[in-house]
Amino acid sequence: KILIVDFGSQVTQLIARRVREEGVYSEVVPFQKAEQAFREMKPKGVILSGGPESVTLQTSPRTPQSLLEAGVPVFGICYGQQTMASQLGGEVEGGHHSEFGRAEVEVLTESPIFQGVWQVGHKYPVWMSHGDRVTRLPEGFETLAVSPNAPFAVVADEARKFYAVQFHPEVVHTPDGAQLIRNFVRHIAGCKGDWTMKAFRDEAIERIRAQVGKGRVICGLSGGVDSAVAAVLIHEAIGDQLTCVFVDHGLMREAEADQVVTLFRDSYNIPLVHVQAQDLFIGALEGVSDPEVKRKTIGKLFIDVFDAEAKKIGGADFLAQGTLYPDVIESVSFTGGPSVTIKSHHNVGGLPERMNMKLVEPLRELFKDEVRVLGRELGLPEAFVGRHPFPGPGLAIRIPGEITREKLDILRKADTVYLDEIRKAGLYDDIWQAFAVLLPVKTVGVMGDGRTYDFVCALRAVTSVDGMTADFYPFEMAFLGRVATRIINEVKGINRVTYDITSKPPGTIEWE
Ligand code: XMP
Repeated sequence: KILIVDFGSQVTQLIARRVREEGVYSEVVPFQKAEQAFREMKPKGVILSGGPESVTLQTSPRTPQSLLEAGVPVFGICYGQQTMASQLGGEVEGGHHSEFGRAEVEVLTESPIFQGVWQVGHKYPVWMSHGDRVTRLPEGFETLAVSPNAPFAVVADEARKFYAVQFHPEVVHTPDGAQLIRNFVRHIAGCKGDWTMKAFRDEAIERIRAQVGKGRVICGLSGGVDSAVAAVLIHEAIGDQLTCVFVDHGLMREAEADQVVTLFRDSYNIPLVHVQAQDLFIGALEGVSDPEVKRKTIGKLFIDVFDAEAKKIGGADFLAQGTLYPDVIESVSFTGGPSVTIKSHHNVGGLPERMNMKLVEPLRELFKDEVRVLGRELGLPEAFVGRHPFPGPGLAIRIPGEITREKLDILRKADTVYLDEIRKAGLYDDIWQAFAVLLPVKTVGVMGDGRTYDFVCALRAVTSVDGMTADFYPFEMAFLGRVATRIINEVKGINRVTYDITSKPPGTIEWE
């Protein structure tokens, strides 16, 4: 087991993820609770996260001294390095040497932390993001690697098995970072690496039982992977104390709503209320063409409908959501803080405040691909688990301009053809998201001997790791030609097809 002490970095959960990838159980604990957690958990190693504070201030967080005196290996990252340095007798200087972004470190000495990945005398790219830096090492420490701006890029007291890095090994911008973390947890802390998603499932079930007790839980299903996995997991934990509510807004893809209902009712026997709210949503969206107004309209109506349904069911103490870790981060940067609102995702937030219920969010620490692994573990069908992400407002944001039933029908058909071809070509799993967009533009064409005047359909497909950045997918022309021919032949209302070759940034994945 590894204890991860959280000092408030945005990417602490990435450390946990890297540790899980090594098949090692870890717990992320806020620094205030670290001492108690350490006593209870008896971890084989401790990782100290980065954080926004400065150790040069008296009031900033510290690593509990007992953790540093317990004879357990410790790995400090960024702020974690600084607390180690200052608490073990070194010095940290604030302010002047901020460093953000890519840097290169040069390895000076061999060490178990570099085993199998970094060699003496070579330089390697890393990701730096810090304001303060260590200026004098505590006794017993030596420098293992340097960078032009960080003379103490990697330091260690090998005797005490204390390691500390100035950069962030947990992010993908440090290409060898995962390997360094692996070396720490497997070789230095000596964890076995036999922990699996099966164990996560069992632990999550225990946690849900402990949290919920005999209470009643309602869970909103969106039709997507996350809420489905959350619901199935919770149902395993507490059985029919769970009721699922599926608000059908009529903005799903072809047949997807039915699939959800069948899956839950027939395969899992989970109580499910299917709210047929299609008319309500389409009515509310009449005359709305601004993307943000669309999102707000759908988000608000969703909450109203869900809330009304919850009242009908009555007596629920908990609201379950399939919130993932990236949602937690994105909703912070999307709705608050100094960064501008690009798009107001409605899938997190809103509901809990309004409903005044306690939240059950068993996937809060996981990333999308981990949720898929968990879904398979729970026996969800592959076709469901492997599904591309789908936005909460659904097809409404894939029809720029005003939405009508007719346009929704046209788009659904085009989308089905497109995805069918992608699956046939065996490309579905290589792509992060692929979908059709129906443009509010009509153009002239000729079919047979006649003139046509119909809508344009744009196809989009991107690769991405987390949805934050994305590249357009480089289909072969022959493939695109095949899809275009089929759409124009099979979908009445479309006579022209284009392919979107914009990456993110500067584009976004969705068109609205
Ligand atoms: P963008 O378009 O912002 O999309 O590049 C990034 C990811 O987020 C999804 N997305 C949404 N999801 N509500 C959601 O639940 C929304 O309003 C929303 N807008 C975009 C998008 O599909 C992609 O996966």
